[in-house]
Amino acid sequence: MDDLPNSLDAALRRRAAQVIPGGLWGHLDAARLPAGYPQFFRSAEGCRLTDVDGHTVIDFMCSWGPIVLGHRHPAVEEAVARQAALGDAMNGPGEVLVELAEALVRLIPAADWCLLQKNGTDATTACVTVARAGTGRRKILAARGSYHGAAPWCSPSLVGVTAEDRAHIIHYEYNDIASLENAVDQASGDLAGILVAAFRHDLGRDQEMPTPSFARRLRELADAAGAALILDEVRAGFRLDLGGSWEALGVRPDLSAWSKAIGNGHALAAVTGAERFREAASSVFTTGSFWCAAVPMAAALATLAELRRLDGPAHMRAMGERLRAGLAAGAARHGLAIRQSGPPQMPLMLFEGDADFARGNAFCAAALRAGAYFHPKHNMFLSCAHGPAEIDAALEAAEAGFAAAAAIG
Ligand SMILES: Cc1ncc(COP(=O)(O)O)c(C=O)c1O
Repeated sequence: MDDLPNSLDAALRRRAAQVIPGGLWGHLDAARLPAGYPQFFRSAEGCRLTDVDGHTVIDFMCSWGPIVLGHRHPAVEEAVARQAALGDAMNGPGEVLVELAEALVRLIPAADWCLLQKNGTDATTACVTVARAGTGRRKILAARGSYHGAAPWCSPSLVGVTAEDRAHIIHYEYNDIASLENAVDQASGDLAGILVAAFRHDLGRDQEMPTPSFARRLRELADAAGAALILDEVRAGFRLDLGGSWEALGVRPDLSAWSKAIGNGHALAAVTGAERFREAASSVFTTGSFWCAAVPMAAALATLAELRRLDGPAHMRAMGERLRAGLAAGAARHGLAIRQSGPPQMPLMLFEGDADFARGNAFCAAALRAGAYFHPKHNMFLSCAHGPAEIDAALEAAEAGFAAAAAIG
């Protein structure tokens, strides 16, 4: 850890700083986390994670989403080993591509077809391209502050990005129908698609579920304009509802972007779409050297089957509710005011009046030392490997966190 100069983690950080710009890229840079968080990990099993210095914790980030069944889940790893023994990167896809595409189309009511890629950014970018190809128009609406990936058209940073990269992106406010209607007006006849995250999960602020009227209005406006409604399921997908996060709202998208949980940690992304955009999807040129690799597809087939068998979303919801109730009780015992938001499967806890996250950071640093890896301002993730015993053990670690947060004046 970085505050222990003789640790292996600190030695690896020093070596990384020599050969990797900034030591590490993007959100995986542990320097953005409270002091004491490790940068490097040795191993992971179930819902436990061991850093390179041998400290084991109960993990509530799940690789920032991909681990939905638990680290190294046996059913997934068996499927991976079976496919690896046959071949992975070949001159084209294996049989498993068709099996997985069929499985996704069966599972997701809004899907008539699917394309596969590697990362969430590949999938959101492909959705935008297919929407433009299918409509012959240029403008894409996106909620201000929503994360859709690290490509120039959507990156949260403007460094290295040109105005031209963003020329056809128009912003609206999530859950704000008036601002959405205003953005549609601005697109005036050139609207290709409206992009929306499954729920509002912007960094450092309370999460918000979409209101039913907002979701319905998105659908109406996309239909009225002949544009695509694009649902970004990269973060929420396969945790809220296996058929799609908006199934309960009764609003179905034309295009959806998936990744993270689809292969329980194996690199895969998907775009699924409605019949109306099939021709557009077949007309765009989209590919990647590793997009046909068979092993992650085998992992995805096994992951989806296991999620269905276990009713993964229901399990994660129940465990998330147990965690949420325990955190509420712990905070109350220490006289601390907290706000918890978002779906229980992807919880976020913020301290009241903690604009600089000082209490959140103190809570997380102390809880980490006591055995639970929480995040002070990004939504966390439950997996099917979190059971009542693990939640209760994490809540004990949270006690140390609340004591540290309460000690801040
Ligand atoms: C909602 C959402 N969309 C897109 C992405 C981009 O995915 P990736 O980092 O795999 O490119 C993310 C990543 O966190 C995300 O949360």
